[in-house]
Amino acid sequence: MVRSFLIQTYGCQMNDYEAGVVRTILECRGYEETFDEVQADVLLMMTCSVRERAEKRALARLAQFRSVRSQRRMRGGKQPPVIGVLGCMAQNLKERLSSDYGADIVVGPDQYRQLPELIEKAAAGVRGLVATAQTNECYETILPKPESSVCATITVMRGCDNFCSYCIVPYVKGKERSRPAQDVVTAVRMLAEQGIRDVTLLGQNVLAYRDGGVDFPALLRLVAALPDIQRVRFLTSHPRDLDERLLATIRELPKVCPSLHLPLQSGSDRILDLMNRGYTRADYLNKIALIRKNLPEATITTDILVGFPSERAEDFQATLEVVEKVRFDFAYMFRFSARPGTKAATLPEQVPAPIAAERLNRLIEIQNRITRARNREMVGRTFELLIEAEGPRRNGFLGRTTTNKVVLLTGPAELGELAMTKVTHLRGWTPIAEKVANQSLLVGRTMATSGYEN
Ligand code: SAH
Ligand code: SF4
Ligand code: F3S
Repeated sequence: MVRSFLIQTYGCQMNDYEAGVVRTILECRGYEETFDEVQADVLLMMTCSVRERAEKRALARLAQFRSVRSQRRMRGGKQPPVIGVLGCMAQNLKERLSSDYGADIVVGPDQYRQLPELIEKAAAGVRGLVATAQTNECYETILPKPESSVCATITVMRGCDNFCSYCIVPYVKGKERSRPAQDVVTAVRMLAEQGIRDVTLLGQNVLAYRDGGVDFPALLRLVAALPDIQRVRFLTSHPRDLDERLLATIRELPKVCPSLHLPLQSGSDRILDLMNRGYTRADYLNKIALIRKNLPEATITTDILVGFPSERAEDFQATLEVVEKVRFDFAYMFRFSARPGTKAATLPEQVPAPIAAERLNRLIEIQNRITRARNREMVGRTFELLIEAEGPRRNGFLGRTTTNKVVLLTGPAELGELAMTKVTHLRGWTPIAEKVANQSLLVGRTMATSGYEN
């Protein structure tokens, strides 16, 4: 009998990837994915612990899973579902998820290979199944099915050794380790054979990638050399590790997209030091200048955290100044959330919630204005779009520029097509474009001359 599983995913892109790893593991053992939670034999959630809210949302969903289970128990007939919590929150809360929250199985990020056995045991009535040993697992040899027919992500590093004082990731994801370069190349080649043209290399700090003599620029070179891959993207870049050699590699390799995600976190030196980020505001601005000099067309996005313990009005002001100065294309902005077990959770002078909320709102307002202005600068310019999906309500097509901007193309196109387009106007924030030439282009920045964006 084929058994069905449902998987609900929270958290970062690496979690989306890991949910794919879990799908592959289960499908290889005869399970089939379903979206019907009332009928599913296994209810799984891939969780995130980065902020308290992420955990709260997952716990609320877990309560829904439990109610499906008890309804099925009451009705009799079909066996009640096995409920499993996977991922970062499983690693963080461990046994508590089974003792206090009723999960049948709790599986940390390094133990997904055990899932089929754990599910069997739980279905047979074994209780308190918690698998959270931390190993060097990188899930090499497991290739998740991409979520789109054109774009795919691939985790090239797992874990993190940076221990930024606010962050739980190093505790839940374990030590930083790189997946063998040969394995990455093989996986991307297989993705290309399935039609994938745009690949994003993922890691908490990809710039620290190392496999023997292969560092990150060398890995970019290997992946970009694969013939059917047209675009290579990567994230996240830690500002401390960004150097001119990386930028020279991006410049030299037309397929590597000139777009950097460079988390700032704060613009105040005192706060950056307390955060253990390893750079100052001046260092950060120097890195930005280095990017602008080497890759003038590059877009830069960031993460910003407000309300870190002891953040005062002048520290926040320093963050706003950097935001105005750099003019990020986009920013993910968060209010500090104290994570038990991290250093920042124990620091004195926690910022009161209303003050942090007010700062976050001000920051969002300023950044939104900048994001819109950045998109407005695209009007009248020509961009190469990789067509990734149909537009909302089947209206046109959505494509991305090499600089990672999503553009709505009016008129006909095909998925996977590289189209040369011109942005005519904005609708809301979304740039709207039309084709300027009929021919599809073959490779990334082949038309890098005469006013083309890339
Ligand atoms: N490796 C990446 C970030 C991973 S977590 C990096 O180094 O930047 C993604 C973002 O979540 C972080 O950049 C940070 O802005 C935010 N974040 C992490 N811990 C947080 C916390 N305790 N409270 C609020 N935001 C947090
Ligand atoms: Fe967290 Fe810092 Fe590691 Fe990013 S670099 S995952 S913020 S500890
Ligand atoms: Fe990602 Fe959240 Fe884990 S951000 S690494 S899923 S704690």
